[in-house]
Amino acid sequence: MRSILVPVLLASVAQAYVDELVGEDQVFNAVLDNLFDRVLEASQLHGDADLDSSTLAKTHPDFSRALQAASNQRAMSSMFPAPVASRSQIAVRGPCQASMGKRAVTCSAKPKVSVGLVGAGLVGKDLIAQIESNPPNGLDISVVAVARSSVMALGAGAPKNAADGKGDPTDLVKLGDFMTGQEGTKVIVDCTADDGPSEYYAAWLEKGINVVTPNKKMGSGPLKRYKEVMAAAEKGGVKWYYEATVGAGLPIITTVQDLIKTGDKVTKIEGIFSGTLSYLFNQPPGQAFSALIADADKNGFTEPDPRDDLSGTDVQRKTVILARECGLEIDMDDVPVESLVPKPLESWEPTAEEKAQGLAKVFIEKMKEYDADMTARMEKADAAGEVLRYVGSIDVKAKKASVSLSSFPKNHPFAATQYADNIVSFASERYTPRPLVVQGPGAGAAVTAGGVFADVLRAGGVFR
Ligand SMILES: NC(=O)c1ccc[n+]([C@@H]2O[C@H](COP(=O)([O-])OP(=O)(O)OC[C@H]3O[C@@H](n4cnc5c(N)ncnc54)[C@H](OP(=O)(O)O)[C@@H]3O)[C@@H](O)[C@H]2O)c1
Repeated sequence: MRSILVPVLLASVAQAYVDELVGEDQVFNAVLDNLFDRVLEASQLHGDADLDSSTLAKTHPDFSRALQAASNQRAMSSMFPAPVASRSQIAVRGPCQASMGKRAVTCSAKPKVSVGLVGAGLVGKDLIAQIESNPPNGLDISVVAVARSSVMALGAGAPKNAADGKGDPTDLVKLGDFMTGQEGTKVIVDCTADDGPSEYYAAWLEKGINVVTPNKKMGSGPLKRYKEVMAAAEKGGVKWYYEATVGAGLPIITTVQDLIKTGDKVTKIEGIFSGTLSYLFNQPPGQAFSALIADADKNGFTEPDPRDDLSGTDVQRKTVILARECGLEIDMDDVPVESLVPKPLESWEPTAEEKAQGLAKVFIEKMKEYDADMTARMEKADAAGEVLRYVGSIDVKAKKASVSLSSFPKNHPFAATQYADNIVSFASERYTPRPLVVQGPGAGAAVTAGGVFADVLRAGGVFR
């Protein structure tokens, strides 16, 4: 086989292939022919030459990715059931493995998605169960690697091995290398609550691995790092998906993205983003705040240290994520937060004896001293025909965001929340004077894993 080395392939040209291949539903052969011609054009070579795929893959990874995108696109479509001949010298074997040097184009039935999971706790375990029990028709999807805090299992049987504590010490660089060698669309899912894995996103994305996460640390972390990750995704020709960081499985991020992509101008977003704080303020009036916290604790709604919920930091993170989605270049420090933890209790460190009694229990006892303030606020709101709701708010026009306990009329959508509902209202040029409202449970392993799974499928091209 004659082999040519394509000396120069501009990244922008390769990106154009990807855009074209992914963005349009074209006849596959024509796409491949076009791709081939443009490689020759970009390399200033002409004629009917065979291409050595492994040389090209090494020297021009962008071209390889473009070819893979073509292959995925081809195999995703039921419009092309049978292998067809092409004038192009590119042969595609299976949806994800491409080689060149032959004239025939062959494709297997199912495109492949290889998932590497970091974090197999409540959400991660549920995600594995959902992938294993509901693989979508037409997609060959499997979890090929699972990393926990100290052990990492790669290859066949990874979920079970990791659950049993079998494998090697966790090494997220090695995980990235392993995923690079996997077939088809590669996806690493970060299902930890830790900031550590965020540091690897850029490297993974640059290698052409999609990243999916319900972890808020990257989305609300330093703006500089956030921008680097966005740039890395662009460079790698893949995406970072984070729908489940706000509202768990509710369509919040995609709603904003769809509004913006279709030319609408989002003017304001307000939301009840914490299930715990939603639960507290959805209870009938007349109860002391400490009693409400005790009830939430009894029903499993609070963190082991209730201050983690009451401080508003979690809501602040979600507000930053949404604000950035609307183009605001802000960091956590730019978002003022009204903490519901009384000042003296912010720095309270429980003694060993108090810890033994249960941190939450002792904290709730201490909160009783401050009940009068909250009772007065609740009664004032009630007298005005209003209710209190803990809300993150983004004023896009003013480029400002904040988190506070605010009062809403009883006929406002936020007054109609129940149980631990999340609710988000999007005001835009189109959605005015009535905003678009999304409401529902915004926490829980099953719904969160479902939101993550949907992102994995987006990466795999299912919703294209
Ligand atoms: N649960 C929900 O309802 C919900 C809702 C929305 C969003 N989320 C988000 O989803 C994420 C996961 O939540 P979860 O409830 O599943 O947490 P979890 O039950 O505490 O599980 C965390 C998992 O991450 C692993 N882990 C921690 N640090 C790690 C590291 N540096 N490297 C590798 N693995 C590490 C842990 O390993 P070990 O197994 O070794 O301990 C564990 O498997 C969090 O970011 C959370 O904020 C959760």
